[in-house]
Amino acid sequence: MNDASPAQLTDEEVMDLDPYSFLAALGKKVVRPGGHRSTDELFSLAELTASDRVLDVGCGVGATGIEIVQRFGSHVTVSDKSQLMLAGARSNVAAAGMTGHVDVDWGDIVSLPYEDDSFDVTIIEAVTMFVDREQAIREVVRVTKPGGRILDHEFCWRDRPNLEALEILRQPMMCPGINFDDVRNWEMLFERHGVSAIESIVGPFALMRPRQFVADEGLRNTARIVRRACSRRVYMRKSAWLMRNIVSIMPKLGYIVLKGTKGPALEDRPRSLSTPQRDERAR
Ligand SMILES: C[S@@+](CC[C@H](N)C(=O)[O-])C[C@H]1O[C@@H](n2cnc3c(N)ncnc32)[C@H](O)[C@@H]1O
Repeated sequence: MNDASPAQLTDEEVMDLDPYSFLAALGKKVVRPGGHRSTDELFSLAELTASDRVLDVGCGVGATGIEIVQRFGSHVTVSDKSQLMLAGARSNVAAAGMTGHVDVDWGDIVSLPYEDDSFDVTIIEAVTMFVDREQAIREVVRVTKPGGRILDHEFCWRDRPNLEALEILRQPMMCPGINFDDVRNWEMLFERHGVSAIESIVGPFALMRPRQFVADEGLRNTARIVRRACSRRVYMRKSAWLMRNIVSIMPKLGYIVLKGTKGPALEDRPRSLSTPQRDERAR
């Protein structure tokens, strides 16, 4: 990911941005598969309170962290690996009057800069699918307190992908390292790392649907994004390319919002607690 500010990027660098960095560079605040509707679902599963210490990993431009302070009054830290995203997060935090309420840190999900058992709630939205997912979840579990809640919102396949859909996704300008899963595989990823009491909600990919776009950004920011997209020839070219490619695979895409609780690791658990339930669900 390029770490320069969007205005400094050459045409070639703009074309090379992954879709979510490009959307964030245009000023989009919500860059996750289910749009804000799925974040509301995540909040309903998270049951956040004012006393919770919350971490949002791969926070993008910080929109979820800001909303958590505004709605629930929790103590929030947001972190991301991209300086481009962190610059957006810091500017949004300041614009929302949240400086001092939302800590903004650099952090890589596969090696987080926090002590063990630091957070009551750890949130991931649309990050795990881009990285070594076993290492990412190991880290997320490590920094969450025992009994703490872990929430993840990711892409999932609603329909088995054909070769064409996979090739579209893996193009260099799209998401070359991306690795989606179906619902059960996402759940098993967390189970392998000792996360229990897993609940999931699934829905259709909504990020680029016009109605959801306006609902997520509001009319004023939608107009600002469109103006910015039209302000440079390369932005227009990239937007058209993105829409053409995403629209063609949209019906196959969905999102999952998953919640679990940090419990004992699978190998430490009595067999009777884990195995029969999993066999039951697999049938
Ligand atoms: C699709 S965006 C989602 C942003 C934000 N969570 C949201 O829902 O609006 C993916 C985010 O993950 C970040 N990211 C990618 N790899 C990362 C890593 N290894 N560690 C931390 N963040 C990462 C990107 O910089 C980007 O901000």
